[in-house]
Amino acid sequence: MTLPSRSARQWWRDAVTYQIYIRSFADSNGDGKGDVEGIRTRLPYLKSLGIDAIWITPWYPSPQNDHGYDVADYMDIEPDYGNLDDAKRLIKEAHDLGIRIIVDIVPNHSSDQHPWFKEALAAGPGSAARDRYIFRDGKGENGELPPNNWNAVFGGPAWHRITEKDGKPGQWFLHLFATEQPDFNWENKEVRGYFEEVLKFWLDLGVDGFRIDVAHGMIKAEGLPDTPEKDSPEMLAAVAMPFWDQDGVHEIYRSWRKILDSYPGDRMAVAEAWVSPASRIARYLRHDELANSFNFDFLTSPWDAKVLRERIDGSLAAIKEVGAPASWVFNNHDVVRSVDRFALGLTPGTGETTLDRQGDPAKLDLNLGIKRARAGALLMLALPGGAYIYQGEELALPEVRDIPENRLTDPRWRMSNFTDRGRDGCRVPLPWKSDQAGAFGFSAHSSVSPTDAWLPQSNWWGSFSVEAQEKNADSTLHLYRKALAIRASEEGLGDGPMTWMEMGENVLAFGRPGNFLCIVNFGEEILLPMGEVLLSSGPLNNERLPKDTAVWIRSR
Ligand code: NOJ
Repeated sequence: MTLPSRSARQWWRDAVTYQIYIRSFADSNGDGKGDVEGIRTRLPYLKSLGIDAIWITPWYPSPQNDHGYDVADYMDIEPDYGNLDDAKRLIKEAHDLGIRIIVDIVPNHSSDQHPWFKEALAAGPGSAARDRYIFRDGKGENGELPPNNWNAVFGGPAWHRITEKDGKPGQWFLHLFATEQPDFNWENKEVRGYFEEVLKFWLDLGVDGFRIDVAHGMIKAEGLPDTPEKDSPEMLAAVAMPFWDQDGVHEIYRSWRKILDSYPGDRMAVAEAWVSPASRIARYLRHDELANSFNFDFLTSPWDAKVLRERIDGSLAAIKEVGAPASWVFNNHDVVRSVDRFALGLTPGTGETTLDRQGDPAKLDLNLGIKRARAGALLMLALPGGAYIYQGEELALPEVRDIPENRLTDPRWRMSNFTDRGRDGCRVPLPWKSDQAGAFGFSAHSSVSPTDAWLPQSNWWGSFSVEAQEKNADSTLHLYRKALAIRASEEGLGDGPMTWMEMGENVLAFGRPGNFLCIVNFGEEILLPMGEVLLSSGPLNNERLPKDTAVWIRSR
C-alpha cells in the first residue's frame, strides 16, 4: 500500500497521543483531585510538548471504586471533575490549539450504581432489567456455588451472589473486574442501542475519538463454559479464555465504525485489547473496524534488543495485512512505569505476587531506568505509526513505591486480600513545581499539601517536576519536546516504511525515509555511522554511542 502524504492521511496514522489520568493531572479547585478545568489550564503545556491528541481517562459520574472505570452515568461529567460546560470548553480550546480529544468509553461493565443495575436488582430473576447484565442461578443444591469457575482480574471469584427482595440469597452476577463493576450482557439489544447513543452523545459534543476499555471482553463464550485453568485471569491471558477475544466483539466494532464514519472529520476509536499474538490484534483493525489498538506486545517487552525487534516485526507484519497503522505504547495507568520496568527487567501482565509485578526496590537502579526510558522514547517515536505517551512519561517519572498501605486505593489491593499493592504507584498526581506548596503545583491552591493529594506524593517528587525540568536543558522533558518537534517536521517519520540495518545483536538500528536513522544500543559502546546527530537520549562519547543510549541521525 502506498500511503498518501502525511498531511493528507488520517491523523491517527501518525499521531502522538498523550494520556491524561484525569484524577492525577491538575487540580483547579483545591480538593486534591484533578479535574477538567485543570486540564484546560494546562493546554499550553501540552501544546508546547508537541503532542497531537489527548486521551482523557473516564470523567463520568462514578463512585470511583475503580477511579472512573465504574461508570454510573455515561452522558455526564463526574461532579468532582466539573460539568458538561467545562468539557465543552475544554474540547473547544483544545481544538483551537490543534489538539484532538479522545475520551474513554467503558462498555464491558458499568458501576453497580448505574440506574440499570439498580433496576436489575429490584426487578428480580428473569426480568428484562436483569437481562441487561449477566445474572445466573448458582450451582449446588441451593444455588450456593458460583455458576462457573471464572475469576476476576483483580482477584477472587468473578461472581457475586445477591440477596433478593425476599431477603434470601439469590442469583449471582458476573463482574470480570471489581464487584462494583457488573458486566453488561452484550447479547442484549438494549445494551447495544444504549452504547450507540453514548457514542453519538460525545461525538455531537465534538470529541475526535474513543479509547475502548477492555475492548476484547464484551462478548462471552456461549454457555459461559469453565476456563481451562482455575487461576486469576490476567488481561493478557496465556491461554484462550471464554471471556476474552471472542469473535462476536467484531460485529460491535463494525457497527461503531459506521457511526464514527457518519460524522464529519476523521473520528476514530482505539482498542484496549490485551490480545496475543499480533495477528489477533490485527482483526480489530480491519478496514471496517477500529483505527488503532494499543501495542501491548511492545509494552510487555523487556529492555532487550532481540525481543523488541521480534515484537516490532511481528506487529508490523500483522497490521500490514489489514492496512492499519501501528500504535506504540510503553506506559499507561495500569502498569509499573517503564523507568522501573526497564531497570528491573519486569514484564507487565506476568507474575503472581507484588514482588513479581513490581520488582525488588532494593535492586532498583533509578539512573539506569531513566537512561533506558529515554532511549526507549527515541525508539518508540521513530517507529512507523502513532504513539501513546502516559502523563509523566515525559518527565521520566519512576513508580512510587512508598505510598502507605492505608492510602492505597486500587481495588486490586483489597480484592487480592491485601497481597497485591496494585497500580496506585503509577498514578500519583503529577509534580508541576519543585516546591511542596499545592502538592508540588498539582493543585492551583497552595494550601493543598503533598499528603492532601488523593494519592500522597513523596517528598522527593519535586525533583522530577516540570518546573525543575524546564530549567535543565538536558532534562527528559526537553528531550521529549525536541523529539516531538523533529518528528513533526520529518515527513519520513510517523506511518510509513522502515528498514532494519544490521549493527550487531545488541543494537536496534533502522532507517526511515529522508536518510533518517534511529540507533538504540543495548550493549557495549559502538561506533556511530557518519552523519549529523539530530538528537541523542544521553551523552555520546565522541563518535561512539554508549550502552542504553539512542540516537537520531541524518545519514550522509
Ligand atoms: C482497563 C483499565 O485501563 C483499568 O484501569 C480498569 O481497571 C479496567 N480496564 C476495568 O475497567
